[in-house]
Amino acid sequence: MTIDAPSLVRRIPTPPWGDPKDRRTVDYQGFVATGGYAALEQALDRTPEEIIETVKAAVLRGRGGAGFPAGLKWSFLPAPDGGRRYLAINCDEAEPGTFKDRLLCDFDPHLILEGIAICCWACRLDTAYFFIRGEYHHQARVMEQAIKEAYENGIFGGKGLMRGKVDFAVDCHVHRSAGAYICGEETGLLEAIEGKRGWPRIKPPFPAVKGLFGRPTIVNNVETLAAVPGILEHGVDWWKAQGVESSLGGMPSYGSKLMGVSGHVVRPGVFEMGLGVTLKDLVEKHCGGIRHGRRFKGAIPGGVSMGVLGTDQYDTPLDFDIGPRAEVLGLGTACPTVFDEETDMVAVARNISRFFKNESCGQCTPCREGSAWTYKILCRIERGDATTADLDLLLELAGSMGLGPGTTICGLADGNNWAVRTIVNKFRGEFEARVKPKLVPLYVGA
Ligand SMILES: Cc1cc2nc3c(=O)[nH]c(=O)nc-3n(C[C@H](O)[C@H](O)[C@H](O)COP(=O)(O)O)c2cc1C
Ligand code: SF4
Repeated sequence: MTIDAPSLVRRIPTPPWGDPKDRRTVDYQGFVATGGYAALEQALDRTPEEIIETVKAAVLRGRGGAGFPAGLKWSFLPAPDGGRRYLAINCDEAEPGTFKDRLLCDFDPHLILEGIAICCWACRLDTAYFFIRGEYHHQARVMEQAIKEAYENGIFGGKGLMRGKVDFAVDCHVHRSAGAYICGEETGLLEAIEGKRGWPRIKPPFPAVKGLFGRPTIVNNVETLAAVPGILEHGVDWWKAQGVESSLGGMPSYGSKLMGVSGHVVRPGVFEMGLGVTLKDLVEKHCGGIRHGRRFKGAIPGGVSMGVLGTDQYDTPLDFDIGPRAEVLGLGTACPTVFDEETDMVAVARNISRFFKNESCGQCTPCREGSAWTYKILCRIERGDATTADLDLLLELAGSMGLGPGTTICGLADGNNWAVRTIVNKFRGEFEARVKPKLVPLYVGA
């Protein structure tokens, strides 16, 4: 996938909705025939500092969930000291409703490798680990084959990048995850690559300073790295033109973004859109609208950790301002899951809470115990066995866990916090209809 002009919106067909025969994995020859690796060639004519400045000027915000600017992250690395420096590519993609990185691997693995090579040159990183979700068997094989082709054609290994064009060699390996959501958290991922249990680390130190095997490490999402060749090839202005400025006076949302739409829409799939497109436009113009002619009820903007948009928030622009603007945690992966008017939001909350209960790594008490407890309360509400006091307890409990309130090591607990609170607050009527009034004793005997 190369990123094109803003008006060019492509849908990558995914089975069973599209015909997979229409798209094939682009191999090395096919990639080069369409201008692939030209951006790497150009990048090697420039100094690493110039490339970092370009990525900074483009304000390329991380596509893995947090939206942190990649150029800024790269500039946090200490100066090379002759020891190993690593790039960890995050393709864990275990966030429910998110399936965009998978398609990049499926169809355009060399675009990812080109971004990896450019990042390694810009940041002076000599070893790259492609960390891929355990269930992505096919994609892991595709990436292994593409890396083999890249070695055979002198991109990696040997005397240096691009058949020795620069005296700086990079090695690239695929590391298959054993399969836990927490291994997508950047420090859990580093632990997993080191062969340990995927328990997130307390930060600081941040990975740029002390990451894999105690050495400087950059962790970036697959899509973030795949955007780099386009920025270098077409320029910063081209990239900026595909996104929007912040309407809240904050950091802009530039560039296009892969948006994987699932849930109650006519045609789910992955779409490449300019940031700032409204959810309504995405669903109505590109996904065929809500299925069975029903009405929109709500949506998760990008992974269940982000919380939900309410019925009156269908017109919300999908950009990095969405958090404060729409009272959700953030844009996340920008892969919305859409709910129609028939959806039982109590069941949605219970289901999401069950996910976080199962995926908590157990290190922090508020996350380990709190997620199990929120799940139990939600089950009680769904069964009709809860009282209004349980609803208050649920909100208090959910609001007390996560990096936001400062009670946990990583952001997994914030996901549970935001999902539960936003669903209850935005669909409170549904919860109130399921709970009984709290029983107040009229007389307590002596
Ligand atoms: C519980 C949890 C799971 C995460 N899973 C992923 C993931 O599957 N893929 C990903 O790219 N980032 C994931 N992240 C975000 C990473 O910690 C990190 O911010 C990201 O990989 C950095 O890349 P980027 O700056 O290019 O977005 C997760 C974060 C948390 C807290
Ligand atoms: S917040 Fe949860 S998942 Fe994250 S480190 Fe603590 S217990 Fe583990």
